[in-house]
Amino acid sequence: MSWFEICGGRPLSGELRVQGAKNSVLPILAAALLAPGQSVLHNCPGLSDVAATEKILRLLGCSVKREGETLLVDARQPTGCEIPDPLMREMRSSVIFLGAMLARLGRAELSYPGGCELGPRPIDLHLSALRKLGAEIVEEQGRLRCTAGKGLTGGELCLSIPSVGATENAMLAACGAQGTTTIVGAAREPEIVDLQNFLNAMGARVSGAGSPVVSVEGGFPLHPAEYTVMGDRIAAATYLCAVGAAGGTLELEGVEASHLAAVAACLEEAGCSLQAQGGRICLKSRGRLGGVRTVRTAPYPGFPTDAQAVLMAALAGGSGTTVFVETMFENRYRHVDELARMGADIQVAGRVAVVTGRPLHAAQVRSTDLRGGAALVVAALAAEGCSRVEGLEHIRRGYQDFEGQLAALGAEIRLRP
Ligand code: EPZ
Repeated sequence: MSWFEICGGRPLSGELRVQGAKNSVLPILAAALLAPGQSVLHNCPGLSDVAATEKILRLLGCSVKREGETLLVDARQPTGCEIPDPLMREMRSSVIFLGAMLARLGRAELSYPGGCELGPRPIDLHLSALRKLGAEIVEEQGRLRCTAGKGLTGGELCLSIPSVGATENAMLAACGAQGTTTIVGAAREPEIVDLQNFLNAMGARVSGAGSPVVSVEGGFPLHPAEYTVMGDRIAAATYLCAVGAAGGTLELEGVEASHLAAVAACLEEAGCSLQAQGGRICLKSRGRLGGVRTVRTAPYPGFPTDAQAVLMAALAGGSGTTVFVETMFENRYRHVDELARMGADIQVAGRVAVVTGRPLHAAQVRSTDLRGGAALVVAALAAEGCSRVEGLEHIRRGYQDFEGQLAALGAEIRLRP
């Protein structure tokens, strides 16, 4: 298996264009199933999660062609309505196809996504929302057999947790439901707004995304659309934390600065200077970041759980103390033991982690999950000496050409063997 060899301890400097957002392109690819014809999607990053989603679309009878970072998705004649278990296991967020399959095909069969390395990943809110719209869902032997025999009918849905996936599934199903659907307690993430914009480009009538109440006037025929996916705010946060930790300068383009406000505030408090100028974010850092006030992960616009690991890695090599509280997932500190191999002092008690910054040294470490793997790279870039980061399959799920992007900043990072 390949690994990264990273020789750290030196400042970085340069400019990067941020990849398209993984967590936006996945639901938008599912949404392309709603319209007969070919949609053209720009800024689709080459990631293994995107490749898995393309596989699902092909299994459902769509054609998918990649031209650079553009995907051409033709859903003229879907022929399948089943997502096989191995693909569900490969990517649990495939559950996002449920709403679109019910809306377009009237039926869907897939397996329970099950937990992942972050802990249990329930989908009760997805299922109750879809049932409220008229779907019949039978759960047997780990499989979900879903039908919308009499079609879907709009209604008022109330989410007890602002679940990103449940909000997206409800929006997609509601587009195929007769009448108006109101989603109360919706997630407010920018990726929800991106999905709304794509759906409306297809002729849907969705409003309110970004607020806690999203409305969909369903039942209108949808047509294919051409659309450019938003920039990936978590990939952007990762590169900002990398340069923040190693020291140096970074100019990022292709991402909306307001999507990163919570992360930027922490990096500024830790000693970085950040400016947003016309679609570009500029960071300057002297390295050895200080501690910041308690970082409590929360739904948007709170501090994003997906940036917790990379910020923790950046602060672990600094000179201050920071308390993290991970409120979103049960098991999102698996990178801590690997960071400890680099000398990090991080004490974990349940959902709380206390980071006491100190100089890190190189080590051989292994990624445990997508963002935890990125965190190990962030730490290795700041650590003295040459580290070996294994488990790249996790990192490939969410970072396009990670080593190329970092090398463009002057990082000494090589893919081995
Ligand atoms: C999305 O996952 C993202 N994935 C995750 O990013 C991200 O961490 C998460 O939102 C939170 O922002 C994609 O968009 C593909 P949720 P999702 O439903 O939709 C509970 C990454 O690293 N919940 O908002 O699965 C759930 O257990 C990934 O890119 C229920 O209880 O997250 C969690 O505690 C990791 N019942 C909380 O809600 C449900 O039916 C938020 O989960 C659904 C969720």
